Amino acid sequence: MRWAKVRIAVTLVGLLAVVGASIGSCVAVAWTPGQRVFRSKCGACHPRPDRTKFDRAGWDRVLDSHGRRFTISPQDRRQLMKWLTSRDAPRTKKP
Ligand code: HEC
Repeated sequence: MRWAKVRIAVTLVGLLAVVGASIGSCVAVAWTPGQRVFRSKCGACHPRPDRTKFDRAGWDRVLDSHGRRFTISPQDRRQLMKWLTSRDAPRTKKP
């Protein structure tokens, strides 16, 4: 009897994982690469960026001045900058 319960619990956890993964990949499709970089590199400290606050040079300064608060590869940084400096609605446009 107990084992049946355990099996149900394990199945449930498995199902949740599958559902979670598919929701996750849907969200990822709606995001631009730059947004994904923001979420992983900046999101812990800045949940909602105001992208209109700086121009390209300003964002470069912000990223440089953060120094060791995060590490970012040149490619990620390029994509992040592209997103930060683009003004189109990020959730309605595909990358
Ligand atoms: C470990 C936490 C942390 C991370 C990660 C982080 N920041 Fe910050 N950020 C801060 C703190 C603290 C401040 C305020 C103090 C300062 O300006 O140095 C700040 C300030 C800022 C400001 C305001 C600067 C101004 O002059 O008004 C912006 C914009 C910003 N961060 C963007 C970013 C972006 C973009 C990233 C990711 C690439 C990022 N931050 C990653 C902690 C973080």
